Amino acid sequence: MDQANPRRRHPAASPLSPAEGAPTVQRDGPPPRRVPAPPTVPRLEIAPTFPCEADVAPGLEVLATAEVRRVLGDRASAPRVTRPGVLAFTYTGDLAPLLRLRTVLAVYLVRRFAVPRPRALLGDEHFRAILRLIASIRATAPDDAYRSLYLSAAGSDSSVLARLKEELGKGTGLRVAPPTAHEGDLHLRLRRPPGGGAGWELLARLSPRPLGARAWRVRNLEGALNATVAHAMALLTTPDPRDQFLNLACGSGTLLIERAACGPATRLLGVDLSADALEIARANVAAAGYADRIELRQGDARALNLPDASIDALCADLPFGHLVGTHDENLTLYPAILAEAARVARREAPFVLITHEIRLLETLLAASADWALEDTLRVALGGLHPRIFVLRRR
Ligand SMILES: C[S@@+](CC[C@H](N)C(=O)[O-])C[C@H]1O[C@@H](n2cnc3c(N)ncnc32)[C@H](O)[C@@H]1O
Repeated sequence: MDQANPRRRHPAASPLSPAEGAPTVQRDGPPPRRVPAPPTVPRLEIAPTFPCEADVAPGLEVLATAEVRRVLGDRASAPRVTRPGVLAFTYTGDLAPLLRLRTVLAVYLVRRFAVPRPRALLGDEHFRAILRLIASIRATAPDDAYRSLYLSAAGSDSSVLARLKEELGKGTGLRVAPPTAHEGDLHLRLRRPPGGGAGWELLARLSPRPLGARAWRVRNLEGALNATVAHAMALLTTPDPRDQFLNLACGSGTLLIERAACGPATRLLGVDLSADALEIARANVAAAGYADRIELRQGDARALNLPDASIDALCADLPFGHLVGTHDENLTLYPAILAEAARVARREAPFVLITHEIRLLETLLAASADWALEDTLRVALGGLHPRIFVLRRR
């Protein structure tokens, strides 16, 4: 079943098919002679192919490339990182599977036009190609998902681009969002080919919201982790259905929900000091449909009510000391959390954590008898450059 497009769940039946209750006529006399059916010629269905580009939080390109290969298989050919934070590939087939990617911020279909100036896009042939591209995208969502369109381009207030937006508004029936909106359900970008060369490229986002803006986030917590980064962190724990998974300082539940989306686990437990954060987490977990899979507890991550060596995998988005907590508090919080995490972790358990307190954590790990540092990933997020640390319990 096509989950992404409720309109396509019931293939159109012939208005006269008996299944639809068309009347059957009883006649007298001999039955009509059967006319042999004409021989059926197999129809060659050619799946459409789309050049695609995915935006990724810089630092997650390798993980996102692996996800594109795993989720899309041979429908996506030659995924490659074209520049920091950008993954390009060619996709063949129904577009809905692209919407399942969880480590990418947004997916765009790319159409290159061999035209010297954007004005030529208003010509009949090119303009109809743009409308066809938009129609393919809109077919992946319910009718009412798209109401506005936004075009981002250098000089988007020029008279040519104003005219292009106006014509696109007329051609699609969508309201044109002003340049100050920076966002529309149908999000278009017009640019010169980034690798050089002639022409212009139009990129059309495949979803009315960026994929990174999860539908489950019905309540926000200041300092909540980006869901694509949380998903990457959950993957870095190498999820296993036998996992007893613990999210220390779980806040609004981002890591727990994204771990649940990776697959089954024996237990998914989140602990946070703050009752307010847990209330937000409860709302998000329920919206994600995981209320019966995720357990939320109020408690101190420095003194957990859990047996020794009982946890198989851990994640944490520790206070960075900017929006949440202070650097001085972190000087005592971080070593206490590392020690308590080591107590509850079984041998060789992975602990994936993200922080901006890079020097503090590196110093603590250099002196740690409990945790071995396996990998680090520097991520760019909203002007900050936190680091993901992949640790393993010795
Ligand atoms: C950066 S936020 C986590 C945000 C979370 N990843 C999300 O996406 O919503 C850090 C969290 O640590 C919690 N926290 C701080 N000290 C704690 C402690 N000693 N034990 C448990 N939680 C703590 C705060 O209440 C806050 O929710």
